[in-house]
Amino acid sequence: MMEQFKIDLRSDTVSKPTREMLEAMMSAEVGDDVFGDDPTVILLESKAAAMFGMEAALFCPSGTMTNQLAIRSHCAPGSEVICDQLSHIYLYEGGGIALNAFSSVRLLNGDRGRLTAQQVENAINNPNDVHQPLTRLVSLENTVNKGGGCIYDFNEIVKIKEVCKKNNLKLHLDGARLFNALVETAVTPVKYGETFDSISICLSKGLGCPVGSLLIGDKDLISKSRRFRKVMGGGWRQAGYLAAAGIYALDNNIERLKDDHIRAKAIGKMLEEKSFIKHIYPIETNIVIAELPENFPAADFVKLLADKNVLCVSMGKHLIRFVTHISFTQNDLDYFEHVIKAIEV
Ligand SMILES: Cc1ncc(COP(=O)(O)O)c(C=O)c1O
Repeated sequence: MMEQFKIDLRSDTVSKPTREMLEAMMSAEVGDDVFGDDPTVILLESKAAAMFGMEAALFCPSGTMTNQLAIRSHCAPGSEVICDQLSHIYLYEGGGIALNAFSSVRLLNGDRGRLTAQQVENAINNPNDVHQPLTRLVSLENTVNKGGGCIYDFNEIVKIKEVCKKNNLKLHLDGARLFNALVETAVTPVKYGETFDSISICLSKGLGCPVGSLLIGDKDLISKSRRFRKVMGGGWRQAGYLAAAGIYALDNNIERLKDDHIRAKAIGKMLEEKSFIKHIYPIETNIVIAELPENFPAADFVKLLADKNVLCVSMGKHLIRFVTHISFTQNDLDYFEHVIKAIEV
């Protein structure tokens, strides 16, 4: 009976839209977004902008695109971007900082992907030294994917903002999983909007949409980014069907992220009891990263679980990652426990 389960914990991007979300999509009113007359896209963009107290937003197919548009719009060729070495913008966006924005990267080593204001300040190049690229942008990630879904201390973000202001730098947030941080802290989206020059949020991760991300910022940044999006081939037409999923998610799927966090902690507890688990990163949201011993390659563990219909990914030679999401139910968690308990290595 239990064997019929197939559990996918590779990422929160694998979740499928619920029936209610599909119904919202099917009944969407649409237009042609390149002509600027898709009413549902307009509604989603203005809803997101209002939520963060910012001027405008741009609906895009992916978080990679919203991050890259922000970087392209903030930077001129020959600029430098400061970010952590674990950042998605550096590791997983195909070298887009160089390819799209013709800029270099200053990589810092933060606490599981989280920088301090002091680290940022120390990394800013002297703008009067012609040898050095001009530092123009600081990019933070919250929550940090490779840091095990950890949450930034907002007070540190405010200090980083002060450093940026003093040095005439822009501050971008890769908030692919920002809502996971928001439901666990008392900081409001408007506070984030006041602090960052641009924010990327993903609808297709914890919020459960099939596709979509939003770049949020001031009117100037968004109109520049709209132009670059078109150049990248990202101008889309009846995108309102997808925007309707986004509106549904912002109205209905934020608070429930706490359920994903509870299930991630439960997974952590089950793993903790196994002798072959060396270490588990502190679990703050929906990501569980566990370390295996030297003699146990992550690829072997991933295969072992896949043979039992449980999918996860390796995040390095000895690191494995599980991500909980809207399609991972209590029954799935019970099956996961059954599988993990039975593993003897
Ligand atoms: C932290 C972070 N930023 C950005 C992205 C990019 O999102 P997309 O897959 O929609 O391009 C991801 C994707 O997993 C992510 O984890």
